[in-house]
Amino acid sequence: MSQFQLFSAKQIEALRNGGAILAGCLEEVSQHALPGVTTKELDRIAEQFIRSHEGALPAFLGYNGYPATLCTSVNDACVHGLPGSRVLKDGDIVALDCGVIFGGLYTDACVTVGVGLLAEETKQFLAVSHGALDAACALVKPGTKIGNISSTIQHMVEGSGYSCVKMLTGHGLGTTLHQFPDVPNVGRAGTGPVLPAHTIIAIEPITSMGTDDIRELPDGWTIVTADGSFSGHFEHTVLVTEEGYKILA
Ligand code: MF3
Ligand code: CO
Repeated sequence: MSQFQLFSAKQIEALRNGGAILAGCLEEVSQHALPGVTTKELDRIAEQFIRSHEGALPAFLGYNGYPATLCTSVNDACVHGLPGSRVLKDGDIVALDCGVIFGGLYTDACVTVGVGLLAEETKQFLAVSHGALDAACALVKPGTKIGNISSTIQHMVEGSGYSCVKMLTGHGLGTTLHQFPDVPNVGRAGTGPVLPAHTIIAIEPITSMGTDDIRELPDGWTIVTADGSFSGHFEHTVLVTEEGYKILA
């Protein structure tokens, strides 16, 4: 598919429902991201939360063979951190990335949270990364070009001395998890596809305190920064409404 998927009122209702379940899931899991907890335990909480809602399914489980409900990317991990026996400790950061299928439609969202007490510079980094997502979402309305979203994220992140992981992008979604268009985290205003009403996109700045070079760990999933810098990941699934936008998850 190389055009925007447009959704009927009934489909948008399903997306709103799925999005609300996903947002609730991330809220619940965030509260358990405490020193001493394993990432596998967080994954179990997420799966249980989603399955407790009739009609909702974990979207990542089995996706391209991915073996879990949640991606738990700790510290220098950018994305696709595999839940396991790793124990979270004071000062860690963990990106909790999750997806839900409801009524055959996907929503996708991520929040990076601190574990226990964070260093001041880490807090600042996460605030800037989160702020870049909020600013990008605020641009969403019919007529907005994807390049404006990309450029806003890039300027906010690089303007504060951090970097955007250029190889990882946001995306369209709907009947599949990843579809047209790519939503890059760097780019030029005034370029790219033009958003129509009644579509959805996942906007997801993936940031680094140091280099934007990345490498994959031997587990075949986890992507980390090449220099070991902390990475942040914030993601919303956003609906383009006739007047502007609505964050679904
Ligand atoms: N949120 C991730 C992304 O947009 C989805 C990971 S799917 C997985 O790339 F199943 F591979 F984990
Ligand atoms: Co995504």
